[in-house]
Amino acid sequence: MKSTNIRWHAAHVTRQDREARNGHKGVILWFTGLSGSGKSTVSIEVEKELHTHGCQTYVLDGDNIRYGLNRDLGFSPADRTENIRRIGEVARLFVDAGVIVSAAFISPYRSDRDAVRALAGPGDFIEVYVECPVDVCEQRDPKGLYKKAREGALSEFTGVSAPYEAPHAPEITLHTDTQSVSECAASVIGYLRAHGYVH
Ligand code: ADX
Repeated sequence: MKSTNIRWHAAHVTRQDREARNGHKGVILWFTGLSGSGKSTVSIEVEKELHTHGCQTYVLDGDNIRYGLNRDLGFSPADRTENIRRIGEVARLFVDAGVIVSAAFISPYRSDRDAVRALAGPGDFIEVYVECPVDVCEQRDPKGLYKKAREGALSEFTGVSAPYEAPHAPEITLHTDTQSVSECAASVIGYLRAHGYVH
């Protein structure tokens, strides 16, 4: 920490107050998986369903955040770590605001995801592994990035020339090569219900 002479201010309205008004808990849904695995698609569907049922929601998405907050970061291991660290801090603020926040980032390093889990605290971090074989992601290739990476026009591309470390014990695993988007969303929402995050 660089700054000194700073002091944490406690608010009068607490997280518990906000959660009580919202009628559900605040929590991070952390979607991790390869580019093209379906993280954004599923997280958007989950948000739509939850919003329809009156929940306070927000989606933090890899590509969008890299336009703004993290525009100074690239795809080196150190930059990805910093990317995930910042997103983790932002996601934690959303949880304090009583929101169900979905974070959809490749987040290829297990240690980076575990650091967010530790920051969030017990029960506030649900890891959703969006599992999909790399060859299926490559066939989808919605942004043409796998093609570029194979041609050598894009370096450090996850799954081709940069690693992806799958979670050891995710709370939820989705198989987007065999399950539909709505099946995947239902699985996430089912978990939230079963564990008392939403009713
Ligand atoms: S992360 O690895 O730091 O978590 P993040 O989810 O923010 O990545 O951004 C990934 C998105 O950036 C991909 O969906 C893709 O559109 C784009 N992208 C551009 N270059 C790369 C690269 N070298 N590796 C992975 N994704 C890349």
